[in-house]
Amino acid sequence: MEVVETGIPGLDRIIGGGFPKGRTILVAGPAGAGKSTFGIQFLYHGILTEGESGIFVSFDELPAHVREECLNYGWNLKELEDDNLLVIVDGFSPRAGVSSGEKYQTLVDVDEVITQLVEIIDKTSAERVVIDSITALALSMANEQQIRRQILKLSAVMSSLECTTILTSEMSRGEVSRFGVEEFMSQGVIVLNYEFRNSVGIRSLNIRKMRGIKHEMIERPFSIGSSGIEVHSDEQFYY
Ligand SMILES: Nc1ncnc2c1ncn2[C@@H]1O[C@H](COP(=O)(O)OP(=O)(O)OP(=O)(O)O)[C@@H](O)[C@H]1O
Ligand SMILES: [Mg+2]
Repeated sequence: MEVVETGIPGLDRIIGGGFPKGRTILVAGPAGAGKSTFGIQFLYHGILTEGESGIFVSFDELPAHVREECLNYGWNLKELEDDNLLVIVDGFSPRAGVSSGEKYQTLVDVDEVITQLVEIIDKTSAERVVIDSITALALSMANEQQIRRQILKLSAVMSSLECTTILTSEMSRGEVSRFGVEEFMSQGVIVLNYEFRNSVGIRSLNIRKMRGIKHEMIERPFSIGSSGIEVHSDEQFYY
């Protein structure tokens, strides 16, 4: 199976070299776990190191805020957008009912997202896509059956275009996904966690599943620093 480097230091070696190319991976976690950062780091690495253009669909945050926050990691997204290596699709403003001057916008609707992605991929040959978050998209769907069908459709279209796709997912009360079906619809699930142990906030990551890949079953600490996320894949928790 062909794999693509994730761009997250320490992660590739615990998942057999990277994400399976053209597959859909769910990155789940509670608020502030680092899901959006993970997604953008994956795109940024793809563009700078792998020559793979990317698309970031932002439902949870204004693109302007995403650009600004990324500057803290030294990632100048605007520059990549100007070079047509990255497209940020604004799904936030239409959802919030406000207007923005963003060139690319989408409603919270899977069919429209797919249409837009296909058009953009046709233009930019993007090979990496991040949808932040699938929870926002799923909230617009009527029932569990529709969520399953729509996520499968999205994942199948991305796969047919050989795009490696990350869906971020809000996690609460120990459940990997809000609707309990998202994790079944993706080929892999990575859980980012954030909890207090002895009054200290600790970030950890584990691989819940990665179809067709022999991955480890150990919870690893990770950190978010000045250059993004890093997994401490040689450390583990003993308490
Ligand atoms: N420059 C930075 N250096 C170190 N840590 C940072 C930096 N910027 C943000 N963080 C940490 O990353 C966290 C946010 O990460 P991110 O936005 O990726 O999380 P998220 O899972 O997408 O959150 P949400 O569920 O709210 O969308 C912040 O809460 C903060 O702890
Ligand atoms: Mg986020």
